[in-house]
Amino acid sequence: MEAPSQPGCDTGPVSKEPLQAPRGTRDFYPEDLRLRNWLFEHFRATAALFGFEEIDAPVLEHAELFIRKAGEEIVDQLYHFTLHDRHLALRPEITPQIARMVAARRGALRLPLRWFSIPQCWRYERMSRGRRREHYQWNMDIWGEPGVAAEAELIASVFHLLDRLGLERGDVMVRINSRALLEETLRETVLAKRPEVFPALCIAIDKLGKIGEDAVVELLRDPKGLVGLPVEDARFVLSFLKLRDIAEAQKIARADSPALAEITRLFELIDAYGHADRIAFDASIVRGLAYYTGIVFEAFDSGRELRAVCGGGRYDHLLETLGGPATPAVGFGFGDSVIAELLSEKKRLPELPRSLDAVVYAFSEAERAAAVRVARALRADNRSVELVLGEPRLKRVMADADRAGAREIHLLGPDEVARGEVLIRDLTSGEQRSEPIPE
Ligand code: HAM
Repeated sequence: MEAPSQPGCDTGPVSKEPLQAPRGTRDFYPEDLRLRNWLFEHFRATAALFGFEEIDAPVLEHAELFIRKAGEEIVDQLYHFTLHDRHLALRPEITPQIARMVAARRGALRLPLRWFSIPQCWRYERMSRGRRREHYQWNMDIWGEPGVAAEAELIASVFHLLDRLGLERGDVMVRINSRALLEETLRETVLAKRPEVFPALCIAIDKLGKIGEDAVVELLRDPKGLVGLPVEDARFVLSFLKLRDIAEAQKIARADSPALAEITRLFELIDAYGHADRIAFDASIVRGLAYYTGIVFEAFDSGRELRAVCGGGRYDHLLETLGGPATPAVGFGFGDSVIAELLSEKKRLPELPRSLDAVVYAFSEAERAAAVRVARALRADNRSVELVLGEPRLKRVMADADRAGAREIHLLGPDEVARGEVLIRDLTSGEQRSEPIPE
């Protein structure tokens, strides 16, 4: 996408389009932002309880960081443009940026490190419920730990968040699989001669829920595509995805399979966290991003009506693709708009009225300096104050103070100011008292 030429001094009327936020993006009015902040505070509090530190990176990034050649949807959906010969993109996810940050300080960082972030991400998506072109994503990532104890911590943090948001235990299930388990099996069978196509194969089968079995077989079979399997091999791959029970997977996998040992251990650990009833093995979860290498997981609402509430997994080789040293990593992204849809459906979104400690009202310009002194003293005492501007009538000020959720109104009329006092009305009890105007 080339940058459009600058409109220069064109002062013609604005067309209707810019009068609305671009499709799939949101304007946040105060009540929307109160809700967003409420959600983000829960993200932050959960991350803090699990010992994670917050990071961020620019929304604008070198496009190359996100462009991989495995047929991922996320690459086709990139918002990108060339400006002054630089190919730039709005980030569709933060994970490659985190990898870059880790690579830049790899020698100085103490591993394992636990980082969280709440990036705004951009994807040119086909819109549906909870699926937008801009969303915020709570990311939790652990770098430097190869064992599934890291996955267990991450999945436990997801459940902690869901509980503190007020969802019921059965409202969301986490479905877990291992790409490594699938890869082991396929390397010994249909991918024996072409193991390198495995990431592209995962991306094709990730579309199963969206496009159905026959279309996935077609993708895997397409001789011009990235995978190019014979049709019977493509069907074999799909048969493997039907497993929904770890015991069934144990029957199929090699007895000495490291991937099987790992996922079995992960299930034991999640049991120790007390969440065994909230997880399920699901071989059809492979994730649509090329960099995952081991355990992968996604959380869904019990009705499976929305897109995944969160998704993540292990990506032990991402740093190497950026020229860094091999460093194990695992993490997840948890979308703000999907969880907001679910909370709204379950009637769990809180009422968050505006709150204000005091409204300070000068009857006229003659009392304004006294009102300023009152407001200053209250603010110095750490109390939130709306100093009424202009000279609206008292009735209007009272109604606005009520709407703003103010606890008190401080009134400064000519009589009060002549006495050196401010009249304070408690808006809940209706009681009144006078106090000296601060010097
Ligand atoms: P992802 O599955 O693409 O993974 O996104 C993670 C979550 O972000 C999704 O489960 C969904 O809740 C939310 N999400 C993604 N796209 C949209 C959209 N268009 N509209 C609304 N919500 C959306 C990643 O992005 C990985 N980087 C996650 C990760 C972190 N893996 C390891 N660390």
